[in-house]
Amino acid sequence: MKERILHGSGGSCRLVIGGRLEDLAGLTPGAHRVAFADERVLRLYGERLPPDPLVVVGAGEEAKSLANVARLYEELLRLEADRDTFLVGIGGGVVCDVTGFVAATYLRGLRVGLVPTTLLAQVDAALGGKNGVNLHGYKNLVGTIRQPDFVLCDLGLLGTLPPVERKNGLAEVVKHALIADDGLFAYLEENASAAAALDPRVISRLVEDSIAVKAAIVARDEFETGERRLLNFGHTFGHALEKATGAPHGEAVSVGMAVATGLSVAGGMLAPQEAERVLRLLDALGLPRSTKADPAGVFEGLRRDKKRAADRIRFVFLERIGKAAAVETGLEELRELFLSWRSSPEGQEVWPKR
Ligand SMILES: NC(=O)c1ccc[n+]([C@@H]2O[C@H](COP(=O)([O-])OP(=O)(O)OC[C@H]3O[C@@H](n4cnc5c(N)ncnc54)[C@H](O)[C@@H]3O)[C@@H](O)[C@H]2O)c1
Ligand SMILES: [Zn+2]
Repeated sequence: MKERILHGSGGSCRLVIGGRLEDLAGLTPGAHRVAFADERVLRLYGERLPPDPLVVVGAGEEAKSLANVARLYEELLRLEADRDTFLVGIGGGVVCDVTGFVAATYLRGLRVGLVPTTLLAQVDAALGGKNGVNLHGYKNLVGTIRQPDFVLCDLGLLGTLPPVERKNGLAEVVKHALIADDGLFAYLEENASAAAALDPRVISRLVEDSIAVKAAIVARDEFETGERRLLNFGHTFGHALEKATGAPHGEAVSVGMAVATGLSVAGGMLAPQEAERVLRLLDALGLPRSTKADPAGVFEGLRRDKKRAADRIRFVFLERIGKAAAVETGLEELRELFLSWRSSPEGQEVWPKR
């Protein structure tokens, strides 16, 4: 078990990595708890939870709605939650986001702890205090940044994840390695098949190192005015591909990282041999790194991205494995770089012309 403290402006968050679900009671001594949980997680692991009042959050992106948040407020009212109530969110990123948002707003703020149960939530969604719900098809349009009191990661819960959820998390682990940890990248290269299977012998290193990367970045730039933007590596094209093709997040981000890596070489920022290593690792992990999507539709998605200010975006390029840089770029400029890269043999390997 490893502990780490993430110091945020509004308070500190205790990260317990490799703890057990049973540690929950010890993390909230004496508190009146209410648990918000994922239904599937409850079916799988409900017996190991303390006997708290339980509210099922609901599944998928539809659960991240203001209507669902209103329903959860009403449940808290019914359970007579007060300022001393400790809210605990147990589930994947959906539960973590919704629980964080409800906790930030109910009675102007309840204490909250998160127990992320997917790899993606353990290495990404539960960390950093961002929470949010969707509005009119825009993801995470409404939310706050507020650190939870603790995040408890029980690695034993990951054994029941279906392959698509494993990939969703692995893509973020690769992202963390690429932007900030070449040692983790080399470890992934050496242990690719064990990593792809989330083998218990390698999983603790993947989760711990990945959390270390994200926690350090958030601690330095909680409100995303600079370095935190690097966490969007692969996500500009990733989100647009996700929207255009309906691919799962991890697969879309994996392709998005292959594209961003290619554009980094095309823009003269990254050595071609480094890009080859990136593509080879994605292959070895069973993550996709090519797409046949229609670029016009993808660029239309980029244009509508809520994070875009006017027609400029901050695109995250790779400088080497373990180091990234966010560069403000005009959409038109990015499109020209994309088109010239795509007509090269390297571009054809990732995004072939139909
Ligand atoms: N706040 C942030 O900083 C941040 C960062 C990244 C992602 N997110 C959000 O996270 C969400 C995605 O999270 P997710 O990928 O965890 O999805 P999810 O919460 O929908 O969980 C995915 C699936 O895994 C199941 N599941 C959960 N734990 C399980 C377990 N231990 N065994 C078997 N099945 C299990 C769930 O029932 C669900 O069907 C998105 O809404 C995204 O916006 C937030
Ligand atoms: Zn992501």
